[in-house]
Amino acid sequence: MRLEIHWLEEVDSTNLQAQRMLERGCPEGTVVVARRQTAGRGRLGRDWRSPAGGLYLTAVLRPSLRGEELGWISVAGGLAAAEELADSLEGKAVPLLKWPNDVLLGGRKVGGILGESRGGSQATAVLVGIGLNLTTDPAELPERPVFPASTVLAETGVALEPEALGRAVAERLCEWYERLQREGPGALRRRLMQLTAHAGKPIEVQDGETILRGRDAGISETGALRLDTGAEVIELPSGQIVKIHVDPREAK
Ligand code: BTN
Repeated sequence: MRLEIHWLEEVDSTNLQAQRMLERGCPEGTVVVARRQTAGRGRLGRDWRSPAGGLYLTAVLRPSLRGEELGWISVAGGLAAAEELADSLEGKAVPLLKWPNDVLLGGRKVGGILGESRGGSQATAVLVGIGLNLTTDPAELPERPVFPASTVLAETGVALEPEALGRAVAERLCEWYERLQREGPGALRRRLMQLTAHAGKPIEVQDGETILRGRDAGISETGALRLDTGAEVIELPSGQIVKIHVDPREAK
């Protein structure tokens, strides 16, 4: 797939801009990157603060996947962001993922993915939005009750430029996406389980109003989190991990 990257100084949201370009018939591989967003959007209807100093990127993809596999495209975004960040940091810190695709450094959230499916006259399209706080002023970030927001600079002392990282993340996303289309989700699932901050650990997951406690038992083939409650292993297709406990077996 050929990438066509459009660099913008400011936009409301790169996902909204990508949607407008999609409506005008843009090809697969169109990528929008902006220095600032005035109405950046996060998951679960939240906003995503987007002052200068962050990477704000959306890729337009036109997958030929079954409906239940579409969620893996957002996972491809999380893997691309975590892997490229790791390469750029050259071992100074290790970015990890929190299911399904929050990017963590030092237990704080420095990035997230917003995947949105779009129907339409042609094939279904997916907009993969990737946000990373690089050198953003931490005072501009929102207060988060769990997994507080932070920046790559604050966690590692490394100031990364959005330009170089943006291209690399888009290319890595493209690689994971093409692999998903070719082979199915197996390799993405295995890589996600390697990169999660909570693999095998005791965790708490918020599912609507309910908090579920148990041990991370991996990711299912449909991308659901498997939680071993002690009594049974349940599969959670959605939800938010709100706590990762230190494993008492490791603390000994
Ligand atoms: C999350 O809530 O964790 C997801 C955040 C996704 C933010 C990115 S920034 C680029 C793209 N454009 C948006 O408006 N949102 C996504």
